[in-house]
Amino acid sequence: MTVEDAPGTATPGRSRRGKAAEPGRQDWKSWPHYDGAAAGFRGYWYPVTWSSHITGKPQPFTLCGERIALIRDAGTAYALHDRCPHRGVPLSEGDQQFPGTVSCPYHGWTFDLPTGKLAAVITDGPGCRLTGKLGVRTYPVEERLGMVWVYVPVADEEPHPIDSQLPEELVSHPFVMGGRIEPRGGNWRFACENGFDEGHAKYLHRTALWRLFKPMPTWNITRIVPKGRWIFRVQEEVHWEADFPGVGHWSNKRWWKTRPPKETFNIGNTGKADRIDPVIEAQEFPGFASLSMPGVLRIAYPKFIHYEFYVPVDEDHHRYVGVMVNFTEGWETLRFYAKYLGAVRWLFHGQFSGQDAWMVDVTDAPPEKLYRPDISLTAWRNLSEEEYAKKLAALPGTEEKA
Ligand code: FES
Ligand SMILES: [Fe+2]
Repeated sequence: MTVEDAPGTATPGRSRRGKAAEPGRQDWKSWPHYDGAAAGFRGYWYPVTWSSHITGKPQPFTLCGERIALIRDAGTAYALHDRCPHRGVPLSEGDQQFPGTVSCPYHGWTFDLPTGKLAAVITDGPGCRLTGKLGVRTYPVEERLGMVWVYVPVADEEPHPIDSQLPEELVSHPFVMGGRIEPRGGNWRFACENGFDEGHAKYLHRTALWRLFKPMPTWNITRIVPKGRWIFRVQEEVHWEADFPGVGHWSNKRWWKTRPPKETFNIGNTGKADRIDPVIEAQEFPGFASLSMPGVLRIAYPKFIHYEFYVPVDEDHHRYVGVMVNFTEGWETLRFYAKYLGAVRWLFHGQFSGQDAWMVDVTDAPPEKLYRPDISLTAWRNLSEEEYAKKLAALPGTEEKA
């Protein structure tokens, strides 16, 4: 993976002299898999909703452009294609007439939840000849982090274990968490790129209440470091103010905000911490922001980690899943919940993250003219391109379907 390419250097058809050429990158053809993933990368697990929201009453969701009905039966969550093969009525409009099944509301075609097979047709009597001969597609389901996750296959392959896709530290340590799931406008790739975007946080979020008492830097020098299946943003230089020739002085420092730290830091984005949670410290993250497939952002702060999962709904919508995790147990968890419900949920997962939602909804690219800090975007696109090519290579016969 070439993570240190200057953004824009590989633009096909880019002319330095030609007057007719538009500046920058006209399309994403140099990342063909990424370009083709407008409705999401198939072949991954995606969080859909809170586990507690899935009950015996089926509910509709769209994931990677596919309509899915989620329902719980005897404690287990099931996902079925949300379309009755009879006349195309959504199964999520129906209900349960027999244990282990869901029935379409129109004529009572009844489907077995584990297999999706047509188990009975109520209005055709017990001798219905279609029974057992057809059915609806089912999707693998798991529950993690208090959420229902659905695997969207590339073809008909078996899914990889969900734990191999989760942030490693969440699989191997107990934790408490709080989170927010929100349907949002804009393509999932804009959301993902925004999350890892080096340049925007210090400027867009300078007005966030979450940052009311802490200054944000003016500009940074950043490097992208790959580690395992993640890429990390590593801050080499942090500048808290600058003089722009012929324009003026700019800084986010204010008299009421804390003073910026002297040294460069790589945990959290407003300064160096006195004490770092031992679980977080043991991960030896090279930088505070990291990203992995299929669009999982991790921001490591000294005492908690914030994750964002960008879940593709369709080409123009995604689901934002923001999760704040603290690696504590026992009485300490009460302190976490108080902090989460009292502040983090509103200030961070609410207003701060709402600024991101606003930008993601109004981003319109390509075309685009990337600038130096966009090395974070190109590194992510390179990573996804490489990882997805590897995934397809491991699934014989699927390359042409992707
Ligand atoms: S449309 Fe589903 S049973 Fe007729
Ligand atoms: Fe942001």
